[in-house]
Amino acid sequence: MAKDIFYTALDIGTSKVATVVAQVGPDGELKIVGTGLVPSQGVVKGQIVNVAEAQEAVQASLNEAQRYMGYRIPWTYVSIAGASTACFNTTGVIHADTNGDPITGENVEQLVQSSYPQIPEDKQILHVMPVNYVVDGYRGVRSPLGLHAGRVEVESHVVMADRDAIRQTLHAVEDCNVPVRDVVLSSLASAEATLFQDEKEMGVVLADIGAGTTDLAIFKDGSLWFDTSIPVGGNQLTRDLSVALGMPYYFAEDLKDKWGHASPDIEQAGEEVLLPSFQGQSRRLIRRSTLCKPLIDRLQETLGLIMLRAQQAGLRRLPPGGVVLTGGTSRIPGFQQMATETLACPVRVAAPVGIRGFSPEHNQNAFSTVIGLLLWGIKHQNRSGVFNKSRDQYGPSRGSNAFFQRIKKAVKVK
Ligand SMILES: Nc1ncnc2c1ncn2[C@@H]1O[C@H](COP(=O)(O)OP(=O)(O)OP(=O)(O)O)[C@@H](O)[C@H]1O
Ligand SMILES: [Mg+2]
Repeated sequence: MAKDIFYTALDIGTSKVATVVAQVGPDGELKIVGTGLVPSQGVVKGQIVNVAEAQEAVQASLNEAQRYMGYRIPWTYVSIAGASTACFNTTGVIHADTNGDPITGENVEQLVQSSYPQIPEDKQILHVMPVNYVVDGYRGVRSPLGLHAGRVEVESHVVMADRDAIRQTLHAVEDCNVPVRDVVLSSLASAEATLFQDEKEMGVVLADIGAGTTDLAIFKDGSLWFDTSIPVGGNQLTRDLSVALGMPYYFAEDLKDKWGHASPDIEQAGEEVLLPSFQGQSRRLIRRSTLCKPLIDRLQETLGLIMLRAQQAGLRRLPPGGVVLTGGTSRIPGFQQMATETLACPVRVAAPVGIRGFSPEHNQNAFSTVIGLLLWGIKHQNRSGVFNKSRDQYGPSRGSNAFFQRIKKAVKVK
């Protein structure tokens, strides 16, 4: 009888560290069996700036998730923020020379390898993803596998990361005695949990608006085409509110959560909010629209920056699949309406889909990265990042199924 398999994903965000353990049942169904959610520390705008502090938060998150399972997490996937990555597109070519035989998986592998670029010393390649193929001059071929051809070209999307950022991420996790199975760009992970294939085909802009950053992933013709990170997120909204109301940051965070609204219609509602007292000041009533004004301004600016980055990437207009918003900040009520009016395109606010056992009281949109990381891991289980002990070398490779089989054995349960 087929046994259950467990997967773990870990997202080190600016505001929280989230661990999710999922069980893939004998019939392939996915169920969350453990979660660990703790406040983040040592992370600024998505980047680890204090490894010891980050490692403490990672350990607490892993401990919480492990409590549910009754045994140690054997390995994990981990995300890396777009703030420390850069992307570009490359091409590769092979002359298949197959003597009349169809193109094999080995030929395709060789082709993709030929599109690996030379990169600076302080960078490491995280992902090389084929976007499309040109087979004997015919463009737009999705896969050359099985075709009879001579010259085959590939256009690949390459994501590279700062070597130091990868090393710090590995330290923070592996010092908790949990080996990292692979490191994945966080916006790519979020896309896995939130985007439909149709949207990717039509072209879509995904914006994961977290606490410290807004991570963008733009898909075209079904593939990731551009990704970047904007250093703006929910922390700025809270800070703006704290300044506008003359209140400490933690009061502002609470008020944003309870009363924040992004729809311009809030002006008409005429509601009032009683502000908490602090430092002996008396409580005061303000209009809810006054409270929302700085939030609306910052969100408008964020949408403007998303448009600008999409244009800088080479899009003349937003794609037919529109814009999908996720991440904790996308939960603010009225945001979908505001974004639709501002961007003048279809806008969807998305939480991760298709997972059983994921508690609805969680701020689900904030979990798109960690859930997507799980899904990505399951889909790409034959790929393994290669790490050496000193964590100096990391590069994507196609790992053998043997590794996966070993893991499978290690996590089998009765
Ligand atoms: N209902 C809500 N209204 C407004 N903001 C919200 C709401 N719920 C959560 N947030 C904001 O979402 C942010 C946290 O989102 P998320 O957990 O996605 O960030 P993160 O992954 O820790 O950070 P990052 O991805 O930027 O590194 C916080 O700024 C929080 O204030
Ligand atoms: Mg995040």
